[in-house]
Amino acid sequence: MAGHIFDLSGKVALVTGSGSGIGQQTAHTLAGLGAQVFATDINHEGAAATAAAVGGTATALGHDVTAPEDWARVVARVQDRAGRLDILVNNAGIMVNRPFLETTLAEYRHQQAVNVESVFLGMQAALPLMLMTASTHNVSPSIINISSVYGQVAGATFSAYSASKGAVRLLSKAVAYEFARTGVRVNSIHPGPTATNLGAGWEPPRDAAGNPLSPEEAAAVWLNLIPNGRFGMPTDIAAAIAFLASDASAYMTGSELTIDGGYTAV
Ligand SMILES: NC(=O)c1ccc[n+]([C@@H]2O[C@H](COP(=O)([O-])OP(=O)(O)OC[C@H]3O[C@@H](n4cnc5c(N)ncnc54)[C@H](O)[C@@H]3O)[C@@H](O)[C@H]2O)c1
Repeated sequence: MAGHIFDLSGKVALVTGSGSGIGQQTAHTLAGLGAQVFATDINHEGAAATAAAVGGTATALGHDVTAPEDWARVVARVQDRAGRLDILVNNAGIMVNRPFLETTLAEYRHQQAVNVESVFLGMQAALPLMLMTASTHNVSPSIINISSVYGQVAGATFSAYSASKGAVRLLSKAVAYEFARTGVRVNSIHPGPTATNLGAGWEPPRDAAGNPLSPEEAAAVWLNLIPNGRFGMPTDIAAAIAFLASDASAYMTGSELTIDGGYTAV
């Protein structure tokens, strides 16, 4: 969308976990601003549906973000097809919702693998192509890592998730610092509770008497924590991702953007 302050024409973006929720919306938003989008997900069908809905030059790839060989294949594919990489959105994630003493080591490790090791692997795999893009085209490529408000404040029964998202926050800052003179920027995004499938399959929370809350009652408990009075929408988060992807944020690196309707303000 030439002329728009967030214009991404000519830029190439890789969005992980784009088969649903925030990643799916991000693929749409970045493509709408002119980017060529590679939409990846462990759920290949979901990524394919996203790419088909986005249309144009969008490409879907099956991609487990915990697998180094998948990262190598995906980045090689981007290099072959597009020859450059301007935007990496490390968005794929899961959320373990379990009281601390009931969280198993296997669950804890899986949580770190999907949410943090993925960001480590993704930045290592993509940086050579992003550095080449920076020097060849004299641009400032952008890595955007999706953390959470639970990378900034604690959430009860989210200890493994909070550990993972806190690590994403500081991993982003450390890599931003190390690459600050190269043109490649690294920032993190911290969404508050957002209407997606992330919590699908959770045990419902219980009231003081131990009875499971209805979905409406559970939603009311969450909404009570959000000063704005509504859940975030994927469009709210994708708009901030578009800003960090664009040259409008050229002077931002090592920063964190919180989009939470005031959740962490009180
Ligand atoms: N929804 C929220 O309230 C919220 C709040 C803060 C942060 N976040 C973060 O936003 C990101 C996106 O989550 P969402 O809310 O859109 O949830 P979502 O469940 O709708 O989407 C997550 C996507 O990640 C994919 N995925 C899971 N494991 C994967 C793997 N190993 N490899 C590749 N893809 C994998 C899933 O298939 C799914 O398409 C996550 O990192 C999440 O932690 C979400």
